[in-house]
Amino acid sequence: MSHASDKKPLTDERKAQLTHIVKQDCGSCHGMTLKGGLGPALLPENLEGKNELFLQYTILHGRTSTAMPPWKSLLTEQEALWIAEQLKQGAMAEKAN
Ligand code: HEC
Repeated sequence: MSHASDKKPLTDERKAQLTHIVKQDCGSCHGMTLKGGLGPALLPENLEGKNELFLQYTILHGRTSTAMPPWKSLLTEQEALWIAEQLKQGAMAEKAN
């Protein structure tokens, strides 16, 4: 059974926190403007053809034998999916600028 809190829409406050996490924590590898660094760029053109569930899975579980760590202790499935959607839309990169 999933947590009841997973079912509620994300609050604006939580979305702002997640945007901050992406900028600070993800940005340490993917770049503050997500143009890449130790990790690959996460701009819409880089994620074209990769579906949101695949990206959500990568965010939650990381990638074995790469530097990409799992985030499932910090992010819910819903939050990881929201981030994946924002990345594909380029919304995070705009906010980071
Ligand atoms: C310690 C460095 C590091 C951190 C921190 C990090 N990543 Fe990554 N990430 C990577 C690397 C390296 C890869 C490439 C893995 C590979 O070679 O497949 C990657 C891959 C990805 C991918 C897949 C990209 C693609 O084109 O398939 C996504 C999405 C992603 N990261 C999102 C995030 C998010 C969101 C966060 C923060 C919650 C984050 N990453 C934090 C290093 C990092």
